[in-house]
Amino acid sequence: MELERELESLEGEIADRLKSVSSLEELDSIRVEYLGRKGKLTALLRRMGQLPPELRPVIGRKANELRQRLESAIQEKAIALKEEGKRKRLAAETIDITLPGRRPALGVKHPITQTLERIKEIFVGMGFEVVEGPEIETEYYNFEALNTPWYHPARDMQDTFYITDSILLRTQTSPVQIRVMESRKPPIRIIAPGKVYRRDADISHSPMFHQVEGLLVDRHVTFAELKGVLAAFARQMFGPETKVRFRPSFFPFTEPSAEVDISCIICGGKGCQTCGWTGWMEILGAGSVDPEVFKAVGYDPEEVTGFAFGMGVERIAMLKFGINDIRLFFENDIRFLSQF
Ligand code: DAH
Repeated sequence: MELERELESLEGEIADRLKSVSSLEELDSIRVEYLGRKGKLTALLRRMGQLPPELRPVIGRKANELRQRLESAIQEKAIALKEEGKRKRLAAETIDITLPGRRPALGVKHPITQTLERIKEIFVGMGFEVVEGPEIETEYYNFEALNTPWYHPARDMQDTFYITDSILLRTQTSPVQIRVMESRKPPIRIIAPGKVYRRDADISHSPMFHQVEGLLVDRHVTFAELKGVLAAFARQMFGPETKVRFRPSFFPFTEPSAEVDISCIICGGKGCQTCGWTGWMEILGAGSVDPEVFKAVGYDPEEVTGFAFGMGVERIAMLKFGINDIRLFFENDIRFLSQF
């Protein structure tokens, strides 16, 4: 009964091996090692012929039962290994939906955009319409029609970016006045915001900056109305306590002309470093539309009058936000921009 004992010990051996199997590949090599054509169980069965004939059916049956037990043990193990693999894979792929999400960084509007929007809002509130004109202009619209003859210092090559002899980057938004008056009849009440260009760069000048032009034309418009509109603007822009002062000045396209100051928003007019101890800060230029400008657009200066004004948006933003270097607006440093 040598063979019978060998069968039993084979069963114990396999049971031990199966306990420590950790992969399907390993399991398959065990199956081949014992049940395969050259396997250990097969080798045992080959020796059946040596048994006395009366024992063969008994041992043969035992061997077949063992084979069946081994096959089902291996199958069970295979199922267990597959289950285990699936469980591990699912655990690794788990997403914790209770984790807080990552917020995308939110931008803010550029301080110049904010200032521009506020200026527009105030004038739209007073019934002005927003219009725009081209940044590439002709000498005629930028200078000639605005009563700025060829010998005027503003036409110096030093200030203006010329594209050809007669085409240039506009140095001011005032040419939009001409374009609007050429295409409409009074009454006119517009503001024209936009970019302007000058050959100039330092702490308070940038080669590209923004202006807002204003123009009101009708019958019987007076300088007093200009004062009223600009004082209302200043109080809405800088606060209800803001005082406004007009100083005589000169612009080719207005007569009389004025430069407009507001009481210093830092010291309230007492005098401080920001206002140079004057108590006042300049915010814009303005005046009554010069009759020469009306003639250039075919209006009769005996019939209509009007006023115009022009302001630098960067300048207003610098005053409002307390910024002392215009270049900060154009460096696009997030640490600067995110403060507004
Ligand atoms: N265009 C002038 C400038 O660039 C600003 C200005 C002054 C505009 C007086 C006006 C005005 O309409 O009446 O400095």
